[in-house]
Amino acid sequence: MPLTRCTPTKCVELGEGLREEVFPYFAIPGENRMIRLSRSTAMVSLAVFFVPAWLSAQETTLPKGYVGSETCAGCHDEVNTSFQKNAHNKLTTTKWRGMQERACETCHGPGAKHAETNETGDILNPAKMPAGAVDKMCLSCHRNSKTQVGTIQNGHARSAVSCTSCHTVHKTGQESSDWQFRTATGVNKKCASCHTNVWASFQKPHRHKVPEGAMTCTNCHNPHGSILARNIRTANAAEPGCFACHSDKRGPFLFEHAPVRTEPCSTCHEPHGSANPRMLTRHEVANQCLECHSNIVSPTPAGIAGGVPPALHDMRQPKYRNCTMCHQKVHGSNVHRGLLR
Ligand code: HEC
Ligand code: HEC
Ligand code: HEC
Ligand code: HEC
Ligand code: HEC
Ligand code: HEC
Ligand code: HEC
Ligand code: HEC
Ligand code: HEC
Ligand code: HEC
Repeated sequence: MPLTRCTPTKCVELGEGLREEVFPYFAIPGENRMIRLSRSTAMVSLAVFFVPAWLSAQETTLPKGYVGSETCAGCHDEVNTSFQKNAHNKLTTTKWRGMQERACETCHGPGAKHAETNETGDILNPAKMPAGAVDKMCLSCHRNSKTQVGTIQNGHARSAVSCTSCHTVHKTGQESSDWQFRTATGVNKKCASCHTNVWASFQKPHRHKVPEGAMTCTNCHNPHGSILARNIRTANAAEPGCFACHSDKRGPFLFEHAPVRTEPCSTCHEPHGSANPRMLTRHEVANQCLECHSNIVSPTPAGIAGGVPPALHDMRQPKYRNCTMCHQKVHGSNVHRGLLR
């Protein structure tokens, strides 16, 4: 009797006597057909058996040393009330990790002893812990989030700027980071409070519109860390976040300008702000180009671009000094290898 193998889109007859035994296909001999059981269906049915058992195990009494949030609330009424407005109040309603009865102690550690003695020394207070220990505690839950990639190595972690330097847990209203980080100006204000020199760069004439709140520091930086240096946010894969907005500079171009591909944009631009048009690092474009091209050997017989005659460009003539007059496609071209158009 031929067996039929079905995929989600079509059924194929298998030869006489062939048996399909590969999970997740199950043959029903009498029926002469295959029933496809998706892996997830299988997992769900397994879960139906095991999860209730696991959950009831979670619902047992508190582990040793814990007293539960209700006891904390008894003495810390004000903190408890404000906590209900914090995102972490979710810990009290979710069965995730079985923490709903001891939400306070997820961050403060087991509090039975403290509840008895009321001694400050018997309870963890993140405000008094070393930055590294605070980060570790917060990351015990937040590590798997995408934005935390690189957190451990980033400049903030290395400089003892802990999670709680930027995030509040018990503050409410305008004092809380949740409220502040809802707006671009709120985020920028927080960053500027420490990075005053960077904020000053944004007062220069040619700059991104960060002070106006049209953009935030976090459009370009991930405050938590990044696989790129300087916490630069990535767009796709490891590309710098600049491409999220300046996608026309991404290419791929038929004729690439090597540094745009291989160097950070900040090789030629001051990303925060500059006294120079187009936020360039040099006031005169020619100087910018000649930083590299005075000694780059060109593939043509003409020799080096900025050299003395008989180089192609005679730098004594003013018309050659405005490089981008002719080399308009300085980020890359699809038509001309000399980046002329
Ligand atoms: C019987 C009352 C009582 C209970 C119950 C209680 N606390 Fe306290 N807690 C206090 C007192 C009193 C202080 C000291 C306040 C002070 O000195 O300013 C304190 C201080 C604290 C501090 C600050 C410690 C520091 O180093 O400054 C934290 C954090 C804290 N409690 C958390 C908790 C948590 C979490 C729970 C529940 C597990 C809890 N408390 C239960 C009375 C209590
Ligand atoms: C997500 C982690 C987290 C949770 C959950 C949490 N706290 Fe805190 N708590 C902190 C941090 C961080 C501080 C240090 C103060 C700061 O930096 O804002 C703190 C400080 C405190 C203090 C010291 C007084 C103060 O306001 O600075 C008390 C008391 C306190 N928490 C009680 C509680 C109670 C009661 C609960 C449960 C209702 C709770 N905490 C839940 C992180 C947490
Ligand atoms: C016990 C696990 C746990 C710990 C420890 C913990 N968090 Fe959370 N955090 C959560 C959960 C759960 C949420 C709510 C997520 C949601 O609403 O989807 C949350 C939410 C947040 C949010 C808000 C996210 C948003 O989308 O608005 C911030 C910010 C945050 N946590 C920072 C911290 C900081 C800072 C610490 C350390 C002081 C910390 N967390 C410790 C579990 C934890
Ligand atoms: C330098 C300031 C700063 C530090 C330090 C910092 N954060 Fe944040 N965090 C922010 C800002 C700003 C946002 C708002 C998101 C944005 O603008 O992109 C945010 C967002 C978040 C969020 C919610 C959205 C998301 O991106 O997942 C969580 C959760 C969070 N932070 C957790 C943490 C934890 C945990 C730590 C410590 C390991 C930490 N943060 C350290 C500034 C900071
Ligand atoms: C509590 C002070 C403080 C706050 C708030 C703060 N920073 Fe920092 N930041 C530092 C310190 C300290 C360093 C390390 C010294 C340095 O490199 O300048 C640093 C380093 C950096 C670096 C360089 C990182 C590296 O790996 O070289 C970037 C980028 C940065 N911060 C961006 C931000 C952004 C964006 C915000 C706002 C979300 C912010 N910072 C908020 C203190 C702060
Ligand atoms: C348009 C994108 C962009 C914005 C917006 C931006 N940055 Fe940067 N930032 C960069 C780039 C790119 C670098 C790396 C420069 C380099 O390679 O020298 C950098 C470097 C830094 C550094 C380390 C080097 C230095 O100059 O001290 C800090 C700190 C920093 N930025 C903080 C901030 C803060 C704070 C804000 C908001 C007020 C901000 N940045 C906004 C792109 C940006
Ligand atoms: C969130 C979007 C966004 C990101 C991310 C971004 N930019 Fe921009 N950029 C803009 C906008 C919008 C303008 C136009 C600003 C204006 O007209 O005031 C601009 C203008 C510029 C200019 C021209 C300025 C002038 O004077 O004409 C340069 C150069 C530039 N960006 C470089 C960068 C670099 C380098 C990065 C990455 C480090 C970057 N940008 C990231 C939005 C962005
Ligand atoms: C080799 C130096 C160099 C590099 C590297 C470079 N740029 Fe430029 N960029 C320039 C020059 C020169 C101009 C001015 C062109 C002009 O005046 O016509 C410019 C202009 C710009 C402008 C404004 C005018 C326009 O064409 O839109 C933006 C935006 C810009 N660059 C973004 C970027 C981004 C994003 C990167 C990184 C991927 C980058 N640049 C890398 C040299 C460079
Ligand atoms: C950071 C160094 C650097 C800077 C700054 C720079 N270039 Fe280049 N440029 C290169 C390199 C490297 C190549 C590739 C040379 C090669 O392939 O032999 C190149 C290639 C070129 C080419 C194509 C040469 C060819 O293969 O025919 C032109 C045209 C060019 N650059 C113009 C400019 C102009 C105009 C500027 C200023 C706006 C500039 N470059 C700034 C490094 C730089
Ligand atoms: C008047 C127009 C003009 C100006 C201005 C100009 N160039 Fe060129 N450049 C050319 C032409 C035309 C070529 C030949 C392109 C080709 O055929 O590949 C060239 C080629 C190049 C090459 C490739 C070298 C080679 O031999 O292929 C480089 C690098 C270069 N220029 C850099 C510069 C720099 C740097 C400046 C500013 C100091 C500059 N150019 C100004 C027209 C100009």
